[in-house]
Amino acid sequence: MIQIENLSFTYSDEGTVSRTILDNVSLTIKPGEAVAIMGPNGSGKTTFARCLNGLLLPASGTVLIDGLDTRDQAQLPEIRRKIGMVFQNPDNQIVSATVEREIAFGLENLGVPCAEMHEIVDNMLTEFNLQHYRLHAPHYLSGGEKQRLALAAVMAMRPRYLALDEPTSLLDPKSRADILHIIKQLHCRQNHPVTTLLITQFPDEALHADRLLVFHNGRILMDDAPARVFSRVDELLAIGLEPPLEFVLK
Ligand SMILES: Nc1ncnc2c1ncn2[C@@H]1O[C@H](COP(=O)(O)OP(=O)(O)O)[C@@H](O)[C@H]1O
Ligand SMILES: [Mg+2]
Repeated sequence: MIQIENLSFTYSDEGTVSRTILDNVSLTIKPGEAVAIMGPNGSGKTTFARCLNGLLLPASGTVLIDGLDTRDQAQLPEIRRKIGMVFQNPDNQIVSATVEREIAFGLENLGVPCAEMHEIVDNMLTEFNLQHYRLHAPHYLSGGEKQRLALAAVMAMRPRYLALDEPTSLLDPKSRADILHIIKQLHCRQNHPVTTLLITQFPDEALHADRLLVFHNGRILMDDAPARVFSRVDELLAIGLEPPLEFVLK
């Protein structure tokens, strides 16, 4: 379970007036939920995602991942094993010279035995449809393939939670559909289901979630089933968010 209580966050840049970026956010995410997050640019979505795995620490309030507090330095490695992160640009995330090494990277760091590591790498190559690229340099993959690789490398670590920050925003429509399909699959796979938090600017992606959060000015403005959120057309348009067309035309 992810438990967030009264989370506030402020970037403290020297010489500038500090501004509250997250303002008293409280939220519980239960295992198995598929949560989508939308909100205008600058509403604090990325900052929120970075607070989940301790990349950023609360100015006040708490973030607990399965009871582990992100402010406890000693717990950070365990927290980061529990919650995988995927960002907008896979180029910022991929570090290895070949596809298979990229998937093995985190496992090697954890000291996973060789035979087990090979099995996991093989499974990930198949699951993410990268088997033909095993020895390829990630650099030469397409944007969609790179994002599949970033996902495969994160999922190799078997996280319980997966936070995705606009993972499809740089992709062409076909790759976007592929990634979205994979995210949905992850959520319902039998052997290792994952709780997903998908930050997205595309309303059609949010429609598939169990629950949609709308951020505005560092607060959670709405938290409900996507169809119920999208039926609040005027309120969404007022903050610059467009519901899917079928809700606008109703
Ligand atoms: N490193 C930083 N230093 C200062 N302000 C920042 C920094 N990163 C983001 N911000 C500010 O925090 C606010 C929220 O940013 P962000 O969490 O990236 O929003 P979103 O992902 O919803 O677009 C924005 O106003 C942004 O300018
Ligand atoms: Mg962002």
